[in-house]
Amino acid sequence: MFINSNILVLHYVFLFQGVKIFNSKTELSQTIVNLKTKKQKIGFVPTMGALHQGHLALVSKALAQNNYVVVSIFVNPTQFDKKNDLDKYPRTLQNDVALLQSCSKDKILVFAPTVDMIYGKKIESQSFNFDGLEHEMEGKFRDGHFNGVGTIIKYLFSIVTPDNAYFGEKDFQQLQIIKKLVEKEKLNVNIIGCEIHREKNGLAMSSRNQRLTPQHKIEAPFIYKTLVSAKERFTTKSTTNVTNWVENQFKNNDLLELEYFIIADENSLKSVKRKSKHKKYRAFIAVFAKDIRLIDNIALN
Ligand code: PAF
Repeated sequence: MFINSNILVLHYVFLFQGVKIFNSKTELSQTIVNLKTKKQKIGFVPTMGALHQGHLALVSKALAQNNYVVVSIFVNPTQFDKKNDLDKYPRTLQNDVALLQSCSKDKILVFAPTVDMIYGKKIESQSFNFDGLEHEMEGKFRDGHFNGVGTIIKYLFSIVTPDNAYFGEKDFQQLQIIKKLVEKEKLNVNIIGCEIHREKNGLAMSSRNQRLTPQHKIEAPFIYKTLVSAKERFTTKSTTNVTNWVENQFKNNDLLELEYFIIADENSLKSVKRKSKHKKYRAFIAVFAKDIRLIDNIALN
């Protein structure tokens, strides 16, 4: 335990049902150094908690490809542009650890630091240049979001020093930005993108789904249904035609409000007017279900 100005910080490592939980970067780093001297491969799954089957699929893949897997659980304040969204983000550590324990009893290390431990008194992001990827889509609607993501991921990578790190394609723009971060900062880690996990009804799994009202839960699969129809239309119609069609679908929906629908080049993330046979395209969507913002995407070709 140490006293950081007027903040009391308790450092701990404890075992919960076999899963080792660290809140201190020093103890975690030391454990990882020890594992690495024994030539153990470290996988890393960064999360903000409220774990669901999508996260567990990332953890399972990481367990299959590494000797140990670090799962961070940290609701990162600098990537939220709305205080209300940050305050309401679900925090379910005990349940999260129980879910992780069902994946492995002895190969998972959980890192669950406090905000003070990560940021001290200055809760601020570093400013990054991701070659313009940060200005598209989410970057236009969530001020400072990717600086916040870049800051926390760079910091977590420096503590965990993973061989492989796993990110879901639901946040496809985030995945591309993290690949760019690794390239620009010359970080020694493989970034592995993993396919989107969906509920049976097609809704992309997300920690935010927990907060949907029963009515919005019934309506939310409309987002994926519309993406699938947009993909079908994309084979014969122009991007403008598909975009107008999607916008009209949402105009007729009283429960879901479209923030954006964009067809973009998978690499540059720039929106596309004219299709080229040699490029890969994806449709990206952000929708409000009351005050809950849901995103999704689909590969088009
Ligand atoms: O995708 C998330 O949950 C977060 O953006 C991440 C990558 C854990 C960074 O806080």
